[in-house]
Amino acid sequence: MYKKPVIVFEGIEGSGKTLHSRFLSNYFKKKKIKFIKFREPGGCSSSEKIRKLILDNKSNFHKITDLFLYFASRNENLEKIIKNNYGKKLILIDRFFDSTIAYQHYGMGIDLKLINSLSSYFIKKINVDLTFLNLVNMTNLRMRLAKRKKLNRYDKFKLSFYRNVQNGYIKLYKKNKRRYRVIDSNLSISINKQKIIREVEKLLR
Ligand code: TMP
Repeated sequence: MYKKPVIVFEGIEGSGKTLHSRFLSNYFKKKKIKFIKFREPGGCSSSEKIRKLILDNKSNFHKITDLFLYFASRNENLEKIIKNNYGKKLILIDRFFDSTIAYQHYGMGIDLKLINSLSSYFIKKINVDLTFLNLVNMTNLRMRLAKRKKLNRYDKFKLSFYRNVQNGYIKLYKKNKRRYRVIDSNLSISINKQKIIREVEKLLR
């Protein structure tokens, strides 16, 4: 029997987070390991509606409004996906509460105490077992963003914003190294894929 951990992929735009999480879900399918995968913001259908609202280029919400929308989206996933599957199936998430700390606190300057108290109210007993923190340098970030055909509202900040967000992630990692594995997305995809598999196999053993 496999363990049923919660695995999260985090990182700024262009950090390879979505590519790596997609790769891991294909690996689980090949190995016939049952899992649930979703992204944040988004996930269940009501949460996807909130995602559209937040990321729409025509939206112009205040940063605190965004904060509550991210939590609204997360609450839908907690109630409709996580609660029913936690401990029963492996859960793979493309972004979770670390994104809120990195973007809304380190990126936008919202009070960390407010974010942490909302997180502890909503998330309660859900424990994340492993977080892959995907890092990218600013040159690759600029190139990868330039290649995107469609940019949403959160793809258009200045590079300094993404640098602050990424430095925020690194601070989180330094405070709790046991939960994080750093993936250097400036390296080749095959090296990173091997590292991800190695770490996940260790976790499932
Ligand atoms: P995505 O591009 O990975 O789908 O994420 C959409 C954007 O949402 C990304 O720029 C990060 C942002 N975001 C936050 O600012 N706070 C959050 O809590 C989450 C989950 C995402």
